[in-house]
Amino acid sequence: MSVVLRGISKSYGAIRAIENIDLTVEAGEVIGLLGDNGAGKSTLMKVLAGAVTPNAGTIEVDGAAHVFRNSSDASAAGIAMLYQDLALFDDMPVVHNIFLGREMTNALGFLKYGAMRVRAQQIVNGFSVRPFDVRTPAGHLSGGQRQVSALARTTAFGSRYIILDEPTSALSPSARDEVLGIVRDLADSGIGIVMVSHDLGHVRKVCDRVAILHLGNLVGVRDMATTTQDEIISLIVQGHA
Ligand SMILES: Nc1ncnc2c1ncn2[C@@H]1O[C@H](COP(=O)(O)OP(=O)(O)OP(=O)(O)O)[C@@H](O)[C@H]1O
Ligand SMILES: [Mg+2]
Repeated sequence: MSVVLRGISKSYGAIRAIENIDLTVEAGEVIGLLGDNGAGKSTLMKVLAGAVTPNAGTIEVDGAAHVFRNSSDASAAGIAMLYQDLALFDDMPVVHNIFLGREMTNALGFLKYGAMRVRAQQIVNGFSVRPFDVRTPAGHLSGGQRQVSALARTTAFGSRYIILDEPTSALSPSARDEVLGIVRDLADSGIGIVMVSHDLGHVRKVCDRVAILHLGNLVGVRDMATTTQDEIISLIVQGHA
């Protein structure tokens, strides 16, 4: 089981944001996507999430070829992206944020609020973090709890591949460790995860492999166990080791 990107390119006018990228994400692994500002990380992830249409290249999910016209297409194929701002509605309880657009209803079309609340609470409690009540408005949550709520939303609907753009950047040290722990648990449960990050410490803690972009080109993919900090930094800064 894997997602395979082949020959993905995307230009904006004269700017070649990414060029001829080949990358595989295996089920059950965390792959860190690294690179300097403007290297093309977000562009590549948006292509994978269906939010940006590439000029060239193909996407295969678990052996089937896909063309994503929008993020719903990617979501139907089992791929979900968490954007940095997390896109939660602050005035809405966590349970509604989790089920937004995919509410459970009975035969007459009425919302099954109780069932949604129980399910949402189960999912949140399943993550190894200090539990919180899913009736809380999202605007009252801590940064770590927001991250957990957003992850609950992606996992509630069976995403098999999850893209995280800088999931730990705005968190306190303890929330950071909790979120990294959840990322690892999700991967161990069989989900494939791509994590965009500028923090090599976090990448080292949780990733199995790293992929490095430099000026729109994929300049290296390394196993975390055999690469070094120096090698990764050279790839990020110079584009070669
Ligand atoms: N919508 C857009 N229109 C025009 N140019 C864009 C657009 N999106 C990205 N670019 C350009 O494409 C290149 C890659 O940008 P991208 O956002 O993918 O980089 P990044 O690696 O995510 O950087 P950062 O670490 O700063 O988030 C940059 O030169 C950027 O200015
Ligand atoms: Mg970016």
